[in-house]
Amino acid sequence: MNLVIRGGTIVGPDTVFRADIRIESGVIVAVGEALSTANATIIDASGCWVGPAFVDIHTHLREPGREAAETIASGALAAAMGGFSAVVAMPNTEPALDNVPLVSYVLAQGAKTAIDVAVAGAITLGRKGESLAPLAELAALGVRLFTDDGTGVQNPLVMRRALEYAAPLGLRLAQHCEDEQLANGGVMNEGVLSAQLGLAGRSAVAEELMVQRDIALVRLTGGRVHFLHLSTATSLAMVTAARLEGLDVTCEVAPHHFVLSEEACRTFDPQFKVHPPLRPEADRAALHAALSTGAIDAVATDHAPHTPELKDLAFDEAPAGMLGLEHVAALTNEALGANPVAFFNLLSRGPARIAQLRASDARVGLSAHGGVIMVGEDANVVVFDPSQTWVGDRNALHSKATNTPYHGRPLVGRVRSTIVKGRLVVHEGVLQ
Ligand code: DOR
Repeated sequence: MNLVIRGGTIVGPDTVFRADIRIESGVIVAVGEALSTANATIIDASGCWVGPAFVDIHTHLREPGREAAETIASGALAAAMGGFSAVVAMPNTEPALDNVPLVSYVLAQGAKTAIDVAVAGAITLGRKGESLAPLAELAALGVRLFTDDGTGVQNPLVMRRALEYAAPLGLRLAQHCEDEQLANGGVMNEGVLSAQLGLAGRSAVAEELMVQRDIALVRLTGGRVHFLHLSTATSLAMVTAARLEGLDVTCEVAPHHFVLSEEACRTFDPQFKVHPPLRPEADRAALHAALSTGAIDAVATDHAPHTPELKDLAFDEAPAGMLGLEHVAALTNEALGANPVAFFNLLSRGPARIAQLRASDARVGLSAHGGVIMVGEDANVVVFDPSQTWVGDRNALHSKATNTPYHGRPLVGRVRSTIVKGRLVVHEGVLQ
């Protein structure tokens, strides 16, 4: 299928310009003014930003084990609707993605979808935090990120050994920073509000101590750590300082941590329960402000589908997590204001670099993501209308699950088209 994207604003890593794009056989073949539309489907991008399709480095696809909440197929549809051409599937499935057959299974199922599905392997067997998973064997399948997400690696010696093992292989370990003993089974941020509400608190220090510990371990081992879903101003300041020191650390924030604060927990609505928890307004505001400073490498969804049977329990009993794929672009757009360069750097270029999904990181079976709109690049492209208004609707999601905290919320900015490997997967906001 030939495509011409007409009349949009092309967003580069540091500039924007007006041009049309022609796509043939999965590749961008022309970028310029008034391109020929012969034998091509025309995509009208007037008023829209056109850039590399988004990459989510933090997607829970739930397969195998919890297919009632999400499958690789349904998660991929939600991702395409959200503007993503690639996602990294998290390994806290049942069983965990800690071995070659299971990772091969997820990659094979992913290859049947319209997007690229990469895998984050578990750092430790069964995510138990005791003995290391076969990182080298999984790396041979193309796995570049490893994490025990859902929990962090609690034992510092195990984390040290993992870093020592991963560093020469060029692998990055992604950490869910929460010290379980300090988190102490808490269900929301620990503070005055948790005391008032009578809900058990999960302290900010539980996160910050592990960030600090892992920075020390990176300094010791020369390894690389990616910090998942940072939620406090102090965590972010520590990562910024570590980067200035020259350590190879990267970080992401999830949309709920810069959009929502712990105040949402006053409702006792379990849709607002997440790990790490929603924090006080000062932390939310600090993360929001840092989106446009370059201190944050990526916005990542932590898309965490749960069935209503589980998620609609009382706040203390419901599982933590909320959906993200279909709303994150609008939420990031709103948070940034009219800042297309930062928008694509946070949703596409930054995450693709962390997941090693760029053209220079060629991997078996996957195309290049997070690149530049230019001739010869793989055509993974999104057309995003930054001013379209709409309302979040849990009944209109493509995810199997409905646990979104944004039902009924007005949103600004919407994905018009998602093109993956030259294929028009979403057109005029509709799945093809
Ligand atoms: O709230 C969360 N839910 N945080 C995580 O880190 C994991 C996720 C899940 O898998 O449900």
